[in-house]
Amino acid sequence: MIRKQLGLLLTALMTLSAGAYPKLEISLSVEGEPCPSRPGYPESRCLGIKNCSNVELYIKSGNMTLYDVVGCGIGVYMELVCCPNKPPNLQTVSSTTDSSPAGVGPMVPESEPKQKRKPEREPYRHVVSLQYLNALTFDSYVMRCTGVLLKENFALTSAACAGSFIADPNHVRLGLSEPFKDLLEIDNITYHNNDLVLLHMSHGYSREFIAEVCKQVDVENRLKLIAVGFSQKNEENCSWFEREVTNVTFDSCDRVSINRPVRGIDNINHICVSPKTASPRSPPGSCVECLRGSASILYVIRPDGSDCVAGIATPTSKSCIITTHPLYYTSLFSPINSRFLNDELSGSGSRT
Ligand SMILES: *[C@@H]1O[C@H](CO)[C@@H](O)[C@H](O)[C@H]1NC(C)=O
Ligand SMILES: *[C@@H]1O[C@H](CO)[C@@H](O)[C@H](O)[C@H]1NC(C)=O
Ligand SMILES: *[C@@H]1O[C@H](CO)[C@@H](O)[C@H](O)[C@H]1NC(C)=O
Ligand SMILES: *[C@@H]1O[C@H](CO)[C@@H](O)[C@H](O)[C@H]1NC(C)=O
Ligand SMILES: *[C@@H]1O[C@H](CO)[C@@H](O)[C@H](O)[C@H]1NC(C)=O
Repeated sequence: MIRKQLGLLLTALMTLSAGAYPKLEISLSVEGEPCPSRPGYPESRCLGIKNCSNVELYIKSGNMTLYDVVGCGIGVYMELVCCPNKPPNLQTVSSTTDSSPAGVGPMVPESEPKQKRKPEREPYRHVVSLQYLNALTFDSYVMRCTGVLLKENFALTSAACAGSFIADPNHVRLGLSEPFKDLLEIDNITYHNNDLVLLHMSHGYSREFIAEVCKQVDVENRLKLIAVGFSQKNEENCSWFEREVTNVTFDSCDRVSINRPVRGIDNINHICVSPKTASPRSPPGSCVECLRGSASILYVIRPDGSDCVAGIATPTSKSCIITTHPLYYTSLFSPINSRFLNDELSGSGSRT
């Protein structure tokens, strides 16, 4: 990422194509047609992201981030976005009506979320956060996505967290909170069905942090299911959160909006879950407990208290889930996905 410097911003934006995953919050529009107006979003027209230079100007002006760009469908060659008709005027942002989860809120200092109790056995000790170059300033880094360690030098994350110049993470950091383990450099990224992303690091963490992938029987005999992730806010390192979720019938996910080309969502490779409670209402500008947009890891807690990893939030879009709406998790133990993981993790793992 360091190699891609400011000069490449334009190239990067123009290369986003299927790699950028704007959130879809409106009904699909036809290319070239006006997008329905929405509060806090400029007047816009549905265009291929490469045809939309105003989006780049908005991002540069700090008025919008990649996360705020509203998608309006998937064209033949590229993702369609609601492209602002006019470039941004360079006024100060007044974001009183901003209710979008990853929106550019006023710079309210992040209030430290509730203290987490520290039980004897470190729970979720396999969770990593991912470091990105700050897409606005290009001179600092921010930790914003969640992954899980599956081998000393391999971490798994969601395709929502990789896939474009701007959005590719460059380092992995093990741990939920201070003291974190050392940052390790990512030297290779492998994609699977636009759903899972395997990050290979140039060095490895100790074996004791490797997650156990669940088996079907673990899910069936679970005590509970917990989603764990890092909350999210533009340009800030946010803390982690956990949320209990329940396994609901696959049909409950019927109305999940899917605006990213994830291949083959089905009840073998995916699980439909629903958060037991909505996430606590966070004041505007604070970190958002994002289940999907910054990825979250689905843990099974077994009756004996031990844990295993069952899935990772399916990147159906980049927006957050903060309500109790159901969402998909990609199963790590389905035959296809476990074959992918086994193939990738065996053999190549000892590369340094
Ligand atoms: C978008 O750009 C492509 C070429 O890059 C062009 O063929 C197409 O007509 C453009 N669409 C619009 C709506 O401008
Ligand atoms: C940001 O966008 C809003 C809505 O279009 C606009 O009112 C505001 O002036 C813009 N600010 C900047 C810095 O462009
Ligand atoms: C976030 O954490 C990274 C890695 O530790 C650090 O380099 C960066 O300065 C932090 N950014 C902010 C905004 O605190
Ligand atoms: C990255 O990983 C892929 C798949 O494992 C492999 O084919 C490729 O050679 C790797 N590239 C590098 C630079 O290690
Ligand atoms: C829970 O998940 C399993 C798959 O692991 C599935 O077979 C089952 O039908 C799901 N739904 C409920 C309500 O338990």
